[in-house]
Amino acid sequence: MSRKGAILIIDDEKEIRESLEQLLALEGHQAVTAATAEEGLKKFEEQVFDLALVDISLPDQGGLEVLKTLKRENPEVGVIMITAFDSSQAAFQASKDGAESYVTKPWDNDKLLLEIRNALDRGRLQLENVQLRRALKRYGLPNIIGKSREMQRVFDLITQVAPSRATVLITGESGTGKELVAKTTHATSPRADQPFIPVNTGSMPVDLLESTLFGHVRGAFTSAIATKRGLFEVADQGTIFFDEIGTVGVETQAKLLRVIQEREFMRLGGTETIRVDVRILAATNVDLKRLVLENKFREDLYYRLNVIAIPLPPLRERKEDIPLLLDHFLKKYSEENGRELRHFTLEAMKKMMDHDWPGNVRELENAVERAVVLSAGQALGLDLLPESIAVNGAHGGPRSSQLDYPEGSTLFDIVEGYERRLILDMLARSNWSQTEAAERFKIPLSTLNQKIKRLQIDVKRRREE
Ligand SMILES: Nc1ncnc2c1ncn2[C@@H]1O[C@H](COP(=O)(O)OP(=O)(O)OP(=O)(O)O)[C@@H](O)[C@H]1O
Ligand SMILES: [Mg+2]
Repeated sequence: MSRKGAILIIDDEKEIRESLEQLLALEGHQAVTAATAEEGLKKFEEQVFDLALVDISLPDQGGLEVLKTLKRENPEVGVIMITAFDSSQAAFQASKDGAESYVTKPWDNDKLLLEIRNALDRGRLQLENVQLRRALKRYGLPNIIGKSREMQRVFDLITQVAPSRATVLITGESGTGKELVAKTTHATSPRADQPFIPVNTGSMPVDLLESTLFGHVRGAFTSAIATKRGLFEVADQGTIFFDEIGTVGVETQAKLLRVIQEREFMRLGGTETIRVDVRILAATNVDLKRLVLENKFREDLYYRLNVIAIPLPPLRERKEDIPLLLDHFLKKYSEENGRELRHFTLEAMKKMMDHDWPGNVRELENAVERAVVLSAGQALGLDLLPESIAVNGAHGGPRSSQLDYPEGSTLFDIVEGYERRLILDMLARSNWSQTEAAERFKIPLSTLNQKIKRLQIDVKRRREE
């Protein structure tokens, strides 16, 4: 399907203008005409055009001059020159100055339309390339891998929301790529060259979080020896990303609501209202709606954040993406470790296709990195997979208490595998209550939670099973 565009026609001959206008309108393009260079350039300033058709001899200025001005104003616009006679000299000059092509009066309509279509396509490609390069420069857009329908939908959503300032809520289990999606949304947005500021709200006490976000004035609290700008100010013109938004306390929620609504706030202890232009992205792996019902999360804030939702599917629901992800990470980690490109044996592949991946893409990425690092040869077999993948079936639970030492694994790997089994076992006995399991282990809850995170145990899912 050919693309429709906005096309400016600059020609002093009335019949030419009219016939071109008609021809283009019939093709569904939007045509705007001008009889002189001056009029044309004025219209060019008023509207964004994809393409211009410019007569080489205009009454008030040479067409080649006009060409140069158009290209200077907007290098992405396509220009086709029109002339009354075939002159290779003029054609040469026009292409040197950046014209897409050159047509001679009288022209063949079909040929002209083809030239126009090609020029429009080139323009679109160029624009896409500019955006892609911009994204690549920072995070590498092609690093989001996935051919499944679920992931295609995620890509579509990113492309749709990136150009706007709309607030986006990214949801999904741990390791599904929420942060990656946030970075990519920023990197493909018009704010790509401005700051992207991630804030991990989960790890900060309320006071610190607020002064981090909003800044403080000198003397606002004992240790505030100087006035400090907060992250909202640092992120001005750019994007701020709230990771683990569900962990933000109720007081801070009220302040966040105000920033989202008014785009303004005050520094702690300050009296001056500060306005910012910041785009807000947020992510959560807990069900915010449930927190709203439990009165732990403000409903109004929830709706403000959830203007557009990007839900990320767990890996076990899009297993067709596993081989692609494996290839991607094999390449990445083989290169990073200066190894020849590794591949998995069929047996190992099969185990990985059967595995449930409670830690999602992060678990898979870690498994590949580990296998590549531990490997001696190019083929990576079962022995290089973590025990939870290699030994257990689809549910990855503790099946046997017999110890085994897969070849190539270090003491650390073995201990980790064992620790994982112990914790799973205790959690199962404690009805998947982390508090109870921590008590029975006689360790602080925070220590247990750290281990659960490191060992990628998805307590929530297991609890629901
Ligand atoms: N579709 C994907 N393609 C390639 N890499 C991915 C993809 N999804 C996730 N990753 C990689 O997996 C790792 C985990 O992703 P990320 O940190 O974005 O997940 P998350 O959802 O924020 O996890 P958490 O909830 O634990 O913070 C990262 O290294 C990321 O680059
Ligand atoms: Mg994250």
